Amino acid sequence: MNFLSLISLSVSCKGNQKDLKDTKISKNNIVTIEKSIYGTTAKGEKVESYLLKNQKGMEVSIITYGGIITSLKVPNKKGISEEVVLGFSTLEQYMEPHPYFGALIGRYGNRIANAKFSLDGKTYTLAANNGNNSLHGGPEGFHRVIWAVEEVKEGEAASLKLKYLSKDGEEGFPGNLTVYVTYSLTQENTLDVLYEATTDQKTIVNLTQHTYFNLSGDFSKTVLDHEIVIDADQIVPVDDTLIPTGKFESVANTPFDFRKSKAIGKEINEANEQLKRGLGYDHCWVLNHQEKGFRFAASAYEPISGRLMEVRTTEPGIQLYTGNFLDGTLPTRNGNTYAQRTGFCLETQHYPDSPNQKDFPTTVLKPGEKYQSQTSFAFSIK
Ligand code: BGC
Repeated sequence: MNFLSLISLSVSCKGNQKDLKDTKISKNNIVTIEKSIYGTTAKGEKVESYLLKNQKGMEVSIITYGGIITSLKVPNKKGISEEVVLGFSTLEQYMEPHPYFGALIGRYGNRIANAKFSLDGKTYTLAANNGNNSLHGGPEGFHRVIWAVEEVKEGEAASLKLKYLSKDGEEGFPGNLTVYVTYSLTQENTLDVLYEATTDQKTIVNLTQHTYFNLSGDFSKTVLDHEIVIDADQIVPVDDTLIPTGKFESVANTPFDFRKSKAIGKEINEANEQLKRGLGYDHCWVLNHQEKGFRFAASAYEPISGRLMEVRTTEPGIQLYTGNFLDGTLPTRNGNTYAQRTGFCLETQHYPDSPNQKDFPTTVLKPGEKYQSQTSFAFSIK
């Protein structure tokens, strides 16, 4: 029996086979996977949670609803592992409207102007769920679907391979799109996310992950003291509905210059038209060194805990969103609420509204091609 079937056996027989799992699997495998029941959706679908855990104090919980990361714990400089992502405690809360906490985003991450785009002369209309624009794949996007799961072991790492078939016409997008998202946890405290997709008709794809981080581990604190680096000389400026103007703008001498480490809060309240439009940072940066493929894109450092997170990606862009629209209404896991700017997202992606911008890198996927995108979040202490 190989590792894979051993894990599935321990998982499917959870409870009465607990000893088998604890002894055989944890002895042989460095990163373990534990499956549990998370809840049942309003439609009666069962939702499971998978806990991936390494031996360096890092663990991540992912549910099959929306592929949502419900928890991610990493050590601080004293070696104490704490929660560093915003999240809720029940499935019901994830099923209520919320700003995509921890979720997989698709078929198109970020905004599409006027919820319309054309391919080969045919116009497709999406649901307008953000003013007149479409945001994050529509109201029933990938963040609200049930993903099938396969557990994979490779070397010391353990992975969850999520699969979803987005049907032709779903949320207005053309083509049957088969999507795989593989979350891998390594023994080096890195969470790797691999996105893959194929289609049977020309369509558009832009997948991302929408986890909100607060590396302090204290959700009563804002993220304004987090020091950010973004390896980008330009941003994608937006109009007042957060749709790109079509031109790129240099970050030099603006609050958007994160080429050298700078606290999020340092210039966030400066008089700047772009900051005004986003209520803070809510912009896509045009990453440098795109020709290199998978490379360093950004980092975040929280000085008190000592936690450093480095983001690497194959994508041309990264959206820094500083939780500007959090307004103290959503509940934390312990009875408080998430106030404005208590979390930030670093969403790797193609630029917003690419399907309507002829000068942006294409997001079109054709039959016979494979969409592939990779992002990793590496945690360490500085
Ligand atoms: C967008 C924000 C939006 C947030 C939550 C981010 O990716 O850029 O404008 O408010 O998602 O919905």
